[in-house]
Amino acid sequence: MHADQVVLVSGGMGVIGSEICRHFLSQSFTVVATANRKSFNQTDIDQWYLNFSDLEKARLHIFPVDVTDFSDCQKLINKILSEVGAIQVLVNNAGIIRDGMFKKSQYEDWFDVINVNLIGALNMSRAVINHMIDSNYGRIINISSVNGQKGQLGQVNYSASKAGLYGFTKALAQEVIRHNITVNAVSPGYVESGMTEKMKEEVRQKILDTIPAGRFAKPSEIARAVNFLADPESAYITGINFPINGGQYLS
Ligand SMILES: NC(=O)c1ccc[n+]([C@@H]2O[C@H](COP(=O)([O-])OP(=O)(O)OC[C@H]3O[C@@H](n4cnc5c(N)ncnc54)[C@H](OP(=O)(O)O)[C@@H]3O)[C@@H](O)[C@H]2O)c1
Repeated sequence: MHADQVVLVSGGMGVIGSEICRHFLSQSFTVVATANRKSFNQTDIDQWYLNFSDLEKARLHIFPVDVTDFSDCQKLINKILSEVGAIQVLVNNAGIIRDGMFKKSQYEDWFDVINVNLIGALNMSRAVINHMIDSNYGRIINISSVNGQKGQLGQVNYSASKAGLYGFTKALAQEVIRHNITVNAVSPGYVESGMTEKMKEEVRQKILDTIPAGRFAKPSEIARAVNFLADPESAYITGINFPINGGQYLS
């Protein structure tokens, strides 16, 4: 169906990233997942590949990048263009947290969070945008968060970085829609992951009490929305935020 399309997923080996890769592979896209260059590790990569069938592996590539390093992002894009092919879809999914109350927070933590979550998305998008403009086609999807919409205590830096993605999404969307490039954000609520599994039961319950759906999101529920926005037929949807939070925050 989409065999001629290449999708690039930053942080593709993470919980949500892996599911995004799986959904694109199931629709015959060729997928390039990125591994964090700072923690690049062949053993982890070999282990991660075991999650995919032989048929999927044939269309799945993994390349290291540090999204905070613009020249590394440029090198990555050039490598993909020469070794894999033209890139139609970019999913800016790489992200980190450094939680804690603001009054005790450290400059290094804000810097790292803004640098990966916001600057990382700018770096990757800037590295690929002229290629998309030349191709007269593209889809950029920025993974934000419900906490970028509503703010979350203990996550001042994270909330700021994810809120920043909305401004970036809306402004870039207006610049590039005439080249048939759409730019949208997806904002997950809490997602079933190692992080939510490790929470103390009372903390977990306290959060669940704020979610009308009474459960966390499945990673596949986020991937579905990303897939939808990446579809060639979603051509007139741009500059939006797509919240997926089980009713936790309605906007
Ligand atoms: N999980 C949730 O409940 C939730 C809710 C709302 C939004 N989100 C957002 O969804 C996205 C994915 O989250 P997740 O839960 O799947 O997290 P995750 O499993 O930790 O995945 C994040 C990925 O980003 C990579 N990464 C971190 N720094 C990087 C860098 N400098 N360069 C390149 N890659 C880097 C990580 O690699 P390493 O692990 O090797 O460092 C990891 O593979 C994030 O943007 C997150 O903010 C998550």
